[in-house]
Amino acid sequence: MGSRIPQTQKAVVTDEKANWVSLREVPVPIPGENEVLIKVEYAAQNAGDWRLTNMYLDGTVQGGDFAGTIIKLGTDLKVRLKIDDKVAGASLYGIRSDSGSFSEYLVAQSDLIFKIPSGLKIEDAATFGVAWGTVGQVFYHHQEHQYPPHKIADVSAWYIVYGASTSVGLFLIQIAKLAGYKVLTFASPHSFDLVKSYGADHVINYRDEDAIQQALDLTGGGADFALDTISDKDSLRITSGSLGQKGKQMNRFPSPAQEPKDINPTIKVVTTILNSILGVDINFTPRTPDTPWIVSGSPAEREFAAAFYQKTPEIIANYGVKANPVDIRGGLEAISTGLQQQKDGKVSGRKLVYKISN
Ligand SMILES: NC(=O)c1ccc[n+]([C@@H]2O[C@H](COP(=O)([O-])OP(=O)(O)OC[C@H]3O[C@@H](n4cnc5c(N)ncnc54)[C@H](OP(=O)(O)O)[C@@H]3O)[C@@H](O)[C@H]2O)c1
Repeated sequence: MGSRIPQTQKAVVTDEKANWVSLREVPVPIPGENEVLIKVEYAAQNAGDWRLTNMYLDGTVQGGDFAGTIIKLGTDLKVRLKIDDKVAGASLYGIRSDSGSFSEYLVAQSDLIFKIPSGLKIEDAATFGVAWGTVGQVFYHHQEHQYPPHKIADVSAWYIVYGASTSVGLFLIQIAKLAGYKVLTFASPHSFDLVKSYGADHVINYRDEDAIQQALDLTGGGADFALDTISDKDSLRITSGSLGQKGKQMNRFPSPAQEPKDINPTIKVVTTILNSILGVDINFTPRTPDTPWIVSGSPAEREFAAAFYQKTPEIIANYGVKANPVDIRGGLEAISTGLQQQKDGKVSGRKLVYKISN
């Protein structure tokens, strides 16, 4: 490829004054130990992205999901990668604030990205990022499932995905099916066909007053495992209630909502946050130092994630994991509008993907 690497680039960064983002000229990050420099071809948007705009310091490069081409290698790479390799993954806030996917170039750790398997379009690869990493962390690490081709022993066991039309939900349906579960999902009626097309065996409207009873009737008394991708008061109530007496473990995401212990006191509840795979403690709210939100990184999370990313091309290629439906938009200039649409709740069942370069 041999493209010349510029000293500066355009990037969408946090704008403290506007309490939002702005497009600025910033330095191109330099890859250090175990890092590679990637020319971003497509970046994708996550539900959490707009929320971060009022948490990080001014000038922090935004964006997680990416797919692109390696154009420079740092030192001491843990995984053998080379110039021109096509890779994808999630650029996570925590170690470097000068690198993110809403930019022309980013740096990533060699063992926390994956090579895009042939057959997966690069714009589709960009949708895996944060959602795929989180689903792997929940299912294979926190819930201790085994990688395919392993199947669970009990073919009648159910797995619950609450918020199934989210990016996270659409990936989780697929890997729970691969493990042999029957998958019960909760979504809006306009998303029923979508979640079924990703493999859901059954879908319940989460706004139905008798949603929990419908789940218990269908499953014959409950499910083994669940992920609540929304983790608000109602979703936690419905997910924990639907696990019934059979429930072993439910994962949730961080939120102020408390799980209703009175509904299902025996299930184990585990909170998952992807940034812990960086292996270091991170202050997620540096803009408000008096009320820090510390995400604890752990070596075990990092070790799991490195193994999962190396396994990812094989899981995608051998088991036909489908990307999220994409809504492809223009370049960095389109991101502020896309973030606003997500903030306004106008993104459902599709991933906003931005074409950054060729
Ligand atoms: N902890 C972590 O590391 C981590 C990582 C990734 C994501 N997350 C969180 O996971 C959630 C999903 O993220 P994403 O990027 O996958 O989302 P997304 O694809 O942007 O989610 C949009 C979907 O959310 C669904 N939804 C909204 N409110 C809902 C509710 N009350 N009940 C059920 N479904 C609801 C909508 O479904 P319908 O249109 O069908 O109603 C819509 O399709 C976000 O809250 C995000 O912050 C956390």
